[in-house]
Amino acid sequence: MVSDISTVGVIGLGTMGAGIVEVFAKAGKRVYAVDNTPELAERGKGFVTKSLDRAVAKGKLEQSARDETLGRITFTSDLQDLADADLVIEAVPERMEIKNAIFGTLDGIVRPDAILASNTSSLSLTAIAAATEHPERVVGMHFFNPAPVLALVEVIRTVLVDPAVVDQVRELAIQLGKKPVVVGDRAGFVANALLIPYLARAIRLYETGKVSREDLDNAARVGIGLPMGPLTLSDLVGLDVVKEVCDVMYDATKRPSDAPPALLQQLVLAGRLGRKTGQGFYDYGEQAAEEQA
Ligand code: 3HC
Repeated sequence: MVSDISTVGVIGLGTMGAGIVEVFAKAGKRVYAVDNTPELAERGKGFVTKSLDRAVAKGKLEQSARDETLGRITFTSDLQDLADADLVIEAVPERMEIKNAIFGTLDGIVRPDAILASNTSSLSLTAIAAATEHPERVVGMHFFNPAPVLALVEVIRTVLVDPAVVDQVRELAIQLGKKPVVVGDRAGFVANALLIPYLARAIRLYETGKVSREDLDNAARVGIGLPMGPLTLSDLVGLDVVKEVCDVMYDATKRPSDAPPALLQQLVLAGRLGRKTGQGFYDYGEQAAEEQA
């Protein structure tokens, strides 16, 4: 088993991956941030730099701490750079074949004792782990969007994982300043099993045409005291992600309330995925889409 997790690899530098890179680097970890091409790695560097610069501009981060944080990150498109990593976490699109290909490649690159983690929000951790050579070192480490802000990390254990690995990842999350909860592998884990049916319900209410998107969101925000309304939150999370979790939950429960609403399916088909594409339930413009992709 790894004695200390000091070098971390993050694969996939979209919204979640870039946020996760920032979290690890701010906590003093050496980070290899990997995406498919040098251009995508550079784009990921742009996301992290922008987020750190925003913190400096707000007076929340010293310029020197910003420089040190960036100095701990190597942005790369070469998975071989992960040979020395103590832990690798993937945050690539939610497609089993992509995850399996990455974990299969990692099996041949990382040390035998390195921990492999997935940030999946909807796929079965057991299926991901079972396809690897060493399922005893595979866990879920599920961050919440925006990862630099939200404290929850779900640590997902499978029947195959070494319990010591789960403990170590839980301890790591605490070191990162997060609040971990350990969850067994089930559709939606815990937080999404609570959240996603609520978002689906809100989308169905909006579909009835009886309430505007703003009034619906305000009812949740002002009336129930949630930080943002469900349509705004769906746009933040990504409508494709909301739909994927609905699909997985419906598959497991067959409850109509867990099924993806028709409007959600249509928006996903239309490529209106929320903030990351500039349009979802609301319009965000091109710049927001570039920042969030
Ligand atoms: N990256 C880094 N920091 C960010 C950020 C981002 N993307 N977005 C906001 N922040 C920071 C701001 O800089 C600000 O920091 P400060 O307090 O140090 O100045 C702080 O967060 C608050 O931001 P704002 O003042 O701009 O706005 P709000 O007060 O409205 O907060 C929010 C924004 C944190 C996004 C808040 O509205 C919120 O918590 N919303 C709910 C988000 C949520 O529920 N996420 C979970 C989604 S489920 C999920 O991710 C799981 C997946 O599997 C589906």
